[in-house]
Amino acid sequence: MIRAQDIVTQLTSHQLTPNKSEGTAYAPVNIALIKYWGKRNSELNLPITDSLSVGLRTLGTQTRISICAGQDQITLNGLLLATDHPFSQRTSRYLDLFRSSPAMRFVIDTKNDVPTGAGLASSASGYAALVLALNDLFGWQLDKSQLSVLARIGSGSASRSLWDGLVHWQAGTQSDGMDSYAVPLNQTLPDLRIGLLTLSAKAKPISSRAGMKQTVEGLSLYPAWKPMVDAHLAQIIPAIEQGNIQEIGQIAEHNALAMHATMMSAFPALCYWLPETLATLHTIWAAREQGLPCWATLDAGPNVKLIFDQAAQADVERLFPDVQIVRPFGINLP
Ligand code: PMV
Repeated sequence: MIRAQDIVTQLTSHQLTPNKSEGTAYAPVNIALIKYWGKRNSELNLPITDSLSVGLRTLGTQTRISICAGQDQITLNGLLLATDHPFSQRTSRYLDLFRSSPAMRFVIDTKNDVPTGAGLASSASGYAALVLALNDLFGWQLDKSQLSVLARIGSGSASRSLWDGLVHWQAGTQSDGMDSYAVPLNQTLPDLRIGLLTLSAKAKPISSRAGMKQTVEGLSLYPAWKPMVDAHLAQIIPAIEQGNIQEIGQIAEHNALAMHATMMSAFPALCYWLPETLATLHTIWAAREQGLPCWATLDAGPNVKLIFDQAAQADVERLFPDVQIVRPFGINLP
């Protein structure tokens, strides 16, 4: 079986001596319109299906990295974390892939614009920024598809956070995963708006890694997931080409609800929703009945993201005064 360490060695050619004092990088959060849920290889994070996302451009992770001795020092949003903090442990385990010797330790300073581990895609921007910062520190000069492979090993959805805009992660078929990386799409959707409704900023009780395992391995509706993703991709790509935001929203909402249905049908059942999540969905559906063109998508957490055209922005803001609106393809309004 191919190990993550083999892939890292192959891509970095043992170039694990810093060529500058500090590496820095920024990567955007991405929100999947067609979700990744389920792995064919859990060490390499190789997915069972393709997925497709939109980057949030102005929301993401900024990371600085340098080397030290002793132990890894990981600062998240200005707080130096204990070495047994789950975030430090996961980050250090990933960094183990990049040490020239066991004594080589890293100083990481990372800041997320969104809550960490709450289903708001902070691990996607986090691992993409970390890989870009490592590339800067070690001077690998890897191309984005190679960096996408390395980011994917940290967190699957991070493979899509190397680019702004629309990004398609191709599942690939090779057992080493060298064909499982993301590719940016040329299309832009200047009128697309994404609204973030942060209903809970608490870290989710079950990681996406554990949630995927529970869904795939349990007796669930999961076997229906791959054909559904294939059908949704075949529909959404032409909708993107036509700039049809309403159709994109419809397909994305259907896809997200189908993903959550596979989780709820697992045994034991898995449900990331809170009562506020369902209440928010009903508010959206009722407003849609009244003519508001707005759709929802949800990841592995209770928070809801809205998909709509700029023409609906004033009505969306009236309905959800706390919504944080992002223009994925334009300059954010003050
Ligand atoms: O990258 P992970 O392991 O955090 O998984 C992300 C899974 C979803 O956010 C639910 C879907 C997706 O495609 O981003």
